[in-house]
Order: sequence, then structure tokens, then C-alpha cells
Amino acid sequence: MLTFKHYAGTTLPVGASLAQSNRLYVPGWTLSTLYADFKDGFRAEGSQLVIASKDGTPIAVALFYGRDHQVMAFTRQAFRRQGLAVQCIKRLKDLPENVVAGEGIDGTLEFWQKAGIPAYARDYDFWPRGDRFE
Ligand SMILES: CC(C)(COP(=O)(O)OP(=O)(O)OC[C@H]1O[C@@H](n2cnc3c(N)ncnc32)[C@H](O)[C@@H]1OP(=O)(O)O)[C@@H](O)C(=O)NCCC(=O)NCCS
Repeated sequence: MLTFKHYAGTTLPVGASLAQSNRLYVPGWTLSTLYADFKDGFRAEGSQLVIASKDGTPIAVALFYGRDHQVMAFTRQAFRRQGLAVQCIKRLKDLPENVVAGEGIDGTLEFWQKAGIPAYARDYDFWPRGDRFE
């Protein structure tokens, strides 16, 4: 059975811990750092995440990082192209109008378009508000 759970505020560290221990991230990419921060209560303000689980096992995540108003997503390889990441993103609550995403793997711009989130290509140097894109 497929289930989706939303985490924010006091439950954010719980969701972050679950996502981290189930390795819902590309090693070295931002998600893993954010899970660690959220678990410790850092940089969590305004952030939220949604985890999709299959028969109780977490397999996909969407995260809104409040500080950068950025959405990120990850789906375990075996479960990709089943609409899971888009479904997680749709369950994020009250996203602001200036929400953005950065390009991930090849083809991700098409993915963000499907998810309805404006995205920036990897070679885009600066975020709209002027911060360096790293
Ligand atoms: C990007 C990612 C999150 C997509 O997860 P997913 O659960 O497979 O995505 P969905 O099934 O919801 O995709 C919905 C649509 O997006 C598009 N899409 C998704 N992955 C795509 C790809 N690799 N190439 C082209 N289009 C893609 C397709 O239009 C897809 O619909 P379709 O399968 O009916 O054609 C997943 O591939 C992933 O975890 N990648 C590594 C991490 C990453 O790059 N994250 C994004 C930056 S934070």
C-alpha cells in the first residue's frame, strides 16, 4: 500500500530522520545536508517535507526549503517514473509564489515542468534574488 505523510514544524525532525536513514538523497547533494540540519533543528524554519512509503518503506520525498524557497525531490531508482515525486510535491502545503527548483539529473527540467515548479538549468549562475547558485 502506498502512503504519503507530511512533516513540518515539530514533526520535521522526525521526517528528516526517516528520509536520511532510508537514504532518500543523492550522496553529496543538498538533500542529505538538509536532513542532517533539520534533525538538529537548524535551518528548519518554513520548511516541510512529504515522504511516500510503500508498505511502510520510504521510497520518495519532496522537500521545501523555506530559507531558499526551493523545492527538491528524490525517488529511489527502482520506483522512478511512477509519478511518486510529483505526487509528493503536490502534497507540499501553501508553497509561495516565488518557489523555485534547481535542475538535478538530465531530464529534470521536464520533471519540474510536470510538477508545476519553475526550475533553473545547471548552468544558470545566479538565483533570481541574487544568491550564488551552488
Ligand atoms: C527527478 C526525480 C525526483 C523524479 O522522480 P520520479 O518519481 O521518477 O518522477 P515522476 O514519476 O513523478 O515524474 C513525472 C514526470 O516527470 C518527467 N520526468 C521524470 N524523470 C524524468 C527523466 N529522467 N527524464 C525526462 N523526464 C522525466 C516525466 O515527464 C514524468 O512523467 P512520465 O513518466 O509520465 O513521462 C528522480 O529521477 C530522482 O530522484 N532523481 C535524482 C535526484 C534529482 O535529480 N532530484 C531533482 C533535483 S533536487
